[in-house]
Amino acid sequence: MLKMLDKAKELIEEVKAFNATTKDEVEAFRIKYLGKKGVLNELFAEFKNVENHLKKDFGQALNTLKNTAENKVKELKEALENAQEQKGMYGDLTRPAEPIELGSRHPISLVRNKIIDVFSRIGFTVSEGPEIEDDWHNFTALNLPEYHPARDMQDTFFIEKNPDILLRTHTSSVQMRYMETHKPPIRTISPGRVFRNEDISARAHCIFHQVEGLYIDTDVSFADLKQTLLYFTKEMFGKSKIRLRPSYFPFTEPSAEVDIYWGLETETDYRITKGTGWLEIMGCGMVDPNVLRNANIDPEVYSGYAFGMGIERIAMLLYQIPDIRMFYENDVRFLEQFKSVL
Ligand code: PHE
Repeated sequence: MLKMLDKAKELIEEVKAFNATTKDEVEAFRIKYLGKKGVLNELFAEFKNVENHLKKDFGQALNTLKNTAENKVKELKEALENAQEQKGMYGDLTRPAEPIELGSRHPISLVRNKIIDVFSRIGFTVSEGPEIEDDWHNFTALNLPEYHPARDMQDTFFIEKNPDILLRTHTSSVQMRYMETHKPPIRTISPGRVFRNEDISARAHCIFHQVEGLYIDTDVSFADLKQTLLYFTKEMFGKSKIRLRPSYFPFTEPSAEVDIYWGLETETDYRITKGTGWLEIMGCGMVDPNVLRNANIDPEVYSGYAFGMGIERIAMLLYQIPDIRMFYENDVRFLEQFKSVL
């Protein structure tokens, strides 16, 4: 009966060497060895005929054969499934998906949208204009004729040494264009990108964003301006204490700078309000009669107010951002912090 033992050992080698390229081949192999009428069962049936002193070796050989065959079937099945999955156009459709990264709005967009939202609730519409401007709309029409010393307040980028074509230094230029094409009553805000030839630092950049507002009607007074500003600061910051400091802008008379009372509770490093509790957020004033005249609006009939603010400055305040350059670096670690805001 040594023959039976040799046969079992031969079969083990055969099983080990087996390979398959299709699932059907694997199934045929399984039936051949492990099926009801398969090789293994046949050999087990021979067990009783094996001489006693060989029984132990034969039994061990059968067990090895069984385990080897079972492992082989498992191994080949897995290999074929993997290969099929990689070949398939979509792979395994039941596989868990890659997590989808949710994007977020840029903080400048978030703040701009909020400002637009606050003003649109009191009837302001949004107007836009070109970033490349002519001298008239950016300066001259706004009561800043050539050689006016206040032109130095806004260092300007000129296009190709042509002093008439420039990158707008504020979006007041859009208000000028709006007045040319619309009749009072006018209620508009102009958000947009502006350019100034300034050194880049933590507080200033040569490209930044503004929202400027313009209101023109009969009998518009400084009181209307103040009330609008108060409404804005309440809605935007939840603060209801503001003060107006006299200031100078060529296109408004009188002019003022608006401070809001931020308080000292959040003053951790004296950077925000420098220990005063007050913080400057924008410029404003009553539209100068010369500006109205330049837009063919009769200053004897109409009056108006205007205001302008930097979006970056407001965003830095709201989110406690210490350096203006962070807005333009597009570092995802910075940007993804705004996922759940506004
Ligand atoms: N245009 C001014 C600036 O860019 C802001 C401003 C607008 C001031 C309207 C008063 C009135 O600094």
